[in-house]
Amino acid sequence: MRRLLALLLGLLLALSLCGCGKAQESEPVLLLRCADNQPEDYPTTRAAEYFASLVEERTDGRVVIRVFANAELGGEKSVFEQMQFGGIDFARVSVGTLSEQVPEAEMLQLPYLFRDADHMWRVLDGKIGDELLLSVRKADVAGLSWFDAGARNIYTREPVCCFRDLAGLTIRVQESELMSRMIRLWGATPVQMVYSEVYSALETGAIDGAENNWPSYEATGHFEAAPYYLLDGHARLPELLLVSKVALEKITSLDESYGDVLLQSAREAAVYERELWKERETASEALVRENGCVVTELDEAELQKFRDAAAPLYEDFPAEIQAIIKRIRAA
Ligand code: GCU
Repeated sequence: MRRLLALLLGLLLALSLCGCGKAQESEPVLLLRCADNQPEDYPTTRAAEYFASLVEERTDGRVVIRVFANAELGGEKSVFEQMQFGGIDFARVSVGTLSEQVPEAEMLQLPYLFRDADHMWRVLDGKIGDELLLSVRKADVAGLSWFDAGARNIYTREPVCCFRDLAGLTIRVQESELMSRMIRLWGATPVQMVYSEVYSALETGAIDGAENNWPSYEATGHFEAAPYYLLDGHARLPELLLVSKVALEKITSLDESYGDVLLQSAREAAVYERELWKERETASEALVRENGCVVTELDEAELQKFRDAAAPLYEDFPAEIQAIIKRIRAA
């Protein structure tokens, strides 16, 4: 009986040891978190998931990234601050989030900086875009790739048809000084507010309007509370897939080649996101129009009023940023 027991115990031990060995091989060495403030089915979140799957595959399951959607890890600014000390490993954020700490990111918010989407991609996918990705390193994060977020437009609770109508309105902007100044130059009052709070502020009338792209306007349900969408196309804010410096060091210390894995996977995820974006933009616009929102197009003369009024924003940048603006304009 004793011998049988000893035999059984031995067998169990051997099994558990070999089980352990196997588990170690297939268990991730690094389990990391990626934040996105958009819902799960949104282009950026789906692309972040795709990025995570590529990284897991290409590191043989050693680096596993879990994506948290819906701002589950916090608002963008808070996520960014957490990333700076390594509290969160990856995030997809709007470039506006970095505007306080990275002047190049603030510059990308300038109204009418890009003539159109082609111009923006020519810049971001070229040498200037690579330099701008590097510029965010001063904030202890590394930029991996650029995601599309279309053009931003103003929307309001009450009808707004032209530049003059903005006067006196209270408009929500991202937590960005440049955006606040832009709204002021347009005769309205800016309110900086975290994205997740905008819906109820619109609903209760705490603000008169906000500004965002078609998919965000639709996905958040803002179009229900603010059904007047003014196509002023004031900014094309690209979005960034970021990794924290701390996470980057952990990952590359497993294997130096993993740095390239991250970059390559992020680039492929960006290509995927841009495809998803195009589809979603069309679908969101259709949905919003079907729901009876009033979409107002502006002619060149009217658009020029927005541009002219915002022009002083270009003068506030230091010489080195002015030089980048010049290159962007010439691209
Ligand atoms: C877009 C962007 C978000 C951002 C939001 C905002 O929707 O995708 O990341 O938070 O704009 O206006 O705050």
